[in-house]
Amino acid sequence: MHITLVAGTRPNFVKISPLIKAIEASNNSDFSIRYRLVHTGQHYDQKMSESFFQELDIPEPDDNLGVGSGSQAEQTGRIMIAFEQVLQEHPTDLVIVVGDVTSTMACSIVAKKLNIHLAHVEGGIRSFDNTMPEEINRKLTDSITDYFFTTSETANENLRKEGIEDNRIFFTGNVMIDTLSQKMSAFRKPELFDEIGLSEKKYLVLTLHRPSNVDQARELMETLEIINANCRNLPVIFPTHPRTKKILDELHFSLDNIHLVSPLSYLEFNYLVKHSMAVITDSGGITEETTVMQIPCMTLRDNTERPETCTIGTNVLVGSDPENLIPHLNTLFGGQWKTGSIPEKWDGNAATRIIQEIRRIFAC
Ligand code: UD1
Repeated sequence: MHITLVAGTRPNFVKISPLIKAIEASNNSDFSIRYRLVHTGQHYDQKMSESFFQELDIPEPDDNLGVGSGSQAEQTGRIMIAFEQVLQEHPTDLVIVVGDVTSTMACSIVAKKLNIHLAHVEGGIRSFDNTMPEEINRKLTDSITDYFFTTSETANENLRKEGIEDNRIFFTGNVMIDTLSQKMSAFRKPELFDEIGLSEKKYLVLTLHRPSNVDQARELMETLEIINANCRNLPVIFPTHPRTKKILDELHFSLDNIHLVSPLSYLEFNYLVKHSMAVITDSGGITEETTVMQIPCMTLRDNTERPETCTIGTNVLVGSDPENLIPHLNTLFGGQWKTGSIPEKWDGNAATRIIQEIRRIFAC
């Protein structure tokens, strides 16, 4: 059995790490799965890519397609051309893609056009918002996926509604939480913690990178001003994604409570989150991690493809108008935030279940 695993961006790296560990743990002298790891190069900075490989024990990729930045279409085209060549040179029985980024969608199309079996880890989630590139990536990928490995009953239901038969849907859990469980004891205090003089539970963490939240400088500034004015003078640590940094550099702003810092590594970022009072974000993956670490989380979006982080976890959908943050911050500072619980099968064993299913499906 030969598998090709695809990863391209920061959240992908967090998801493939436990899959590789589960493949290696399941191999024995009788049955062995060989794999090839393909990094598309969609994220390429040391801080966005290499540090994740090091900290999450991911082996050197067998291929780095080096596609770099560009428009959605440019990235998609470059990934497709390069990935097709990899698959032609290195035949494989199954391609596994994870998540919902451009690399996920582009490699799925290439695999299926070469008639290779395709598995999607984190299949079936939907925001029902086609203005997000990720929603388009999810729908295109799932329209040609053979085997869906899902994180929630909602994802299973979405797939059934789209006509996917039950025998292709495997509710195996959340691989992002596998990594969180494996690495929690190794979380590392970032230098900025003492440099800024942070104290446990007395600061907030902010992340924003979605085009809808950061591409308009004036709206971004308004969001930051509202947070700055309503954070009770607690420090707000804002590790800035390159997309956000580009815009902020043009604004030359200075707000007393907001501390802009470079992107952090996985172990440092999650240390910061675990010891924070709360997180304000527009990320999807972070809402899963805060749910498991039981940290209050406010999501600056109108919708989420991960509704269980709100219905079961500690997340609240604030909406895209930053004014809406004010009552939620009042609830937080009033000590009234809900206590969430942990969704089913977010238990650290998702990757093991996925590899068991793959061995059963392919009888290997
Ligand atoms: C991508 C994903 C998004 C995911 C996010 C995680 C898509 C459509 N979006 O968005 O779902 O949540 O990753 O971080 O796939 N850049 C660098 N260095 C890098 C990578 C990017 O400077 O290592 C710059 C690029 O020049 C570009 C910007 O960051 O201008 C955005 O990168 P891109 O890969 O296009 O999308 P993300 O916004 O990171």
